[in-house]
Amino acid sequence: MNAPTLRGLPIQVPAYVKNAKLIAWVADMVALCKPAKVHWCDGSQQEYDTLCQQLVDVGTFKRLNPARRANSYLAWSDPSDVARVEGRTYICSEKKEDAGPTNNWMAPAEMRATLQPLFDGCMAGRTMYVVPFSMGPLGSPIAQIGVELSDSAYVAVNMKLMTRMGRAVHDVIGTDGSFVPCMHTVGVPLAAGEKDQTSWPCNETKYIVHYPETREIWSYGSGYGGNALLGKKCLALRIASTMGRDEGWLAEHMLILGVQNPQGKKYHVAAAFPSACGKTNFSMLVPPTGFDGWKVTTIGDDIAWIKPQADGSLRAINPEAGYFGVAPGTNMQTNPNCMLSLKSDVIFTNVALTDDGDVWWEGMEKDTGDLPEHLLDWKGQDWTPAIARETGAKAAHPNARFTTAATNNPALDAAWDDPAGVVIDAMIFGGRRSTTVPLVTEARDWQEGVYMAATMGSETTAAAVGQQGVVRRDPFAMLPFAGYNMSDYFQHWLDMGERLQAAGATLPRIYCVNWFRKGADGKFVWPGYGENMRVLKWMLDRIEGKAQGRQTAFGVAPQYGEINWQGLDFSQAQFDTVTDIDGAAWSEELKLHDAHFDKLAHHLPPQLLATRSALQQRLGV
Ligand code: OXD
Ligand code: MN
Repeated sequence: MNAPTLRGLPIQVPAYVKNAKLIAWVADMVALCKPAKVHWCDGSQQEYDTLCQQLVDVGTFKRLNPARRANSYLAWSDPSDVARVEGRTYICSEKKEDAGPTNNWMAPAEMRATLQPLFDGCMAGRTMYVVPFSMGPLGSPIAQIGVELSDSAYVAVNMKLMTRMGRAVHDVIGTDGSFVPCMHTVGVPLAAGEKDQTSWPCNETKYIVHYPETREIWSYGSGYGGNALLGKKCLALRIASTMGRDEGWLAEHMLILGVQNPQGKKYHVAAAFPSACGKTNFSMLVPPTGFDGWKVTTIGDDIAWIKPQADGSLRAINPEAGYFGVAPGTNMQTNPNCMLSLKSDVIFTNVALTDDGDVWWEGMEKDTGDLPEHLLDWKGQDWTPAIARETGAKAAHPNARFTTAATNNPALDAAWDDPAGVVIDAMIFGGRRSTTVPLVTEARDWQEGVYMAATMGSETTAAAVGQQGVVRRDPFAMLPFAGYNMSDYFQHWLDMGERLQAAGATLPRIYCVNWFRKGADGKFVWPGYGENMRVLKWMLDRIEGKAQGRQTAFGVAPQYGEINWQGLDFSQAQFDTVTDIDGAAWSEELKLHDAHFDKLAHHLPPQLLATRSALQQRLGV
C-alpha cells in the first residue's frame, strides 16, 4: 500500500496503482460519495469468489446447485429495475444540437448541479469498488481503459466477466495514461449500522449521464445491466462513438463473426441489429444441414470498434470480454453454442429458479418437451403452468439476462483477443420488420448502405423500459447508443467511406436484412436462427463474384436459385413473400423516411436525401 490513508480519507492505495490522476480522482470521489470503505479490485478469481459469497450472504445472489450449474449464481432485481432506462439517459454536450434530437440533453453545468447533491454521501455505509477495466484486448491500439467506481458488488463481479478487469489494467495506464472515469451508485446510502432493507438496493430517481466532451460517465439509481455496467453501452458505445467521430473510427452496436468455407477461406462480418433481435444467436450461428465443412466463430456478440488501417482495410475488435445476453428464448435449438456457454461460471439475473436449484426461462421447454411443474419466478413467487395459464405470469422477466465470459463459448474465434483485430469484409444491418423490408439486399455502394442503415426500423423490445411492439426508426441500431447528433453520425460514416475510397480502399460490402417478415397468417415466414447461414453464404458468394443477384429498387437481391436450399424446404413462393418489394408499402415507407429525416434535419447529409430521391424514382411511386 502507498499510504495508510489518502488526504485523511479511508483509501489505501495498492502499490501497483501508480497513476496520479486516478489516485486523485478516487480521492475526490471518496470525499464526495463518502463510502465506509474502498476496495481496489484486482480481478483475481479469489476476489470474484469472495465477492460472490458476500452477495450470497446478503441475499442478492443465490448459489445454484453446483451439480447442475457449477460456480453459478442467480440474482433477482427489484421489479422496478429491470432494463436500461432510455428516458433517464442523457448526453450532456455543451451545445444541445451536438446531442441531437434523438438524445435527452441537459447543459453540463446544470446536470453537474443536479447530480452533486445526489452523489454527495451516496455511498455512506457501503464499500466503493474501484474497478479498472480494458475495453478491448489489453494494450491493443484500438482498446480504451475505463475505471468504474461503484458501490455495487454485483457490478464488480459482472465487470470481471464482461471486461478485462483487474490489476493488469494499471500496467497499461502506468503513471500517466488516460482512462474514462465512470461513476456509479445505486443511490441508497446507509446510516451508521443500518442494513439494506432489500437484496437489490436502487433508487426511484435514475440518471445515466454522459459528458462527451470531457469523456465522463455518471450513473445514479440503477443496478441493472447497461445502466450500471458502464463499460458496455455507456463507454463502448456512447462515449466511444464520440471518440470515433473525433479520431476517425467507428464504435458500433455490432456483433462480429468469422465464417470459414470448406476450402478454408475465412471472412469476417460485422452485423448491427437492435436490442433483443437475436444478435447473440447470429454471432454463435451453427451452420445447418447442407453446409458441411462451414464454420462460424464468434468474435463479439454486441459491440464492435472498427478502425481504418494504413492499408485501407477496416479492422475490428470486440471491446467486451463476455456476454450479457437475453436468456428467454435461448435453447439448444435457437442457440446451442450459447446454451453450452452457460454450463458453468454464470451470473443469471431475473430468470426463474427450479426446485433443484437450477435456472429456467421461457423457451427451455423446447429442449425438455415439458414445462416444469413448479418454479420460483423472477419475483420469487410460486410459478406453475396452471398459474401461468391463468395469469399470464412469466417465469423469467422478458429482459432476464445471463453474464458469462467469452471464453465459455465453444465457438469462440481464435482471434477474438487479438489486439490487431480482424479485417471486416461485410457489414449487415438488420431491422425487425413484419412487412415491407426484404429478407436481404446488398447496397450498390457505401452511400446506399448508409441510407439503408440510417432508415432501419424496428419494433421495440423488452431491453429498454417503455412501450413495446411499436415500430421506431433505429438508425444503425444506434438510436439509444449514439453519443452525439445522429445526423453528424451519418455524416461521419459517409465521410469515412469517401476518405477510404479516395485512398483506393475496397470497402466492406453493406447488406440490409430482415429475418422477421410475416405472412398473411401473421406468422414468421423465414425460419431464421441457423438458417440465416443461407443468407450469409449468398453474401460471401456476392463478394467472390459467384452470385449475380437481381437489381431491385432497394439494392441487389438474391435470385431464388442462388441460395443453397439443401436441407431446407423453402419454396419459391415463400421466398417471394419475404423478398417482395411492394410498391404501395414502399410508398408509405418513404413517407416514414421523410418524417424520420425531418426530425433529423439539422446537419442531415444531403447525400441521404439524394439517395432517397433515387430510391423513389426506382420504385416509381
Ligand atoms: C443489450 C442491448 O443489452 O442492446 O445489448 O440492450
Ligand atoms: Mn446490445
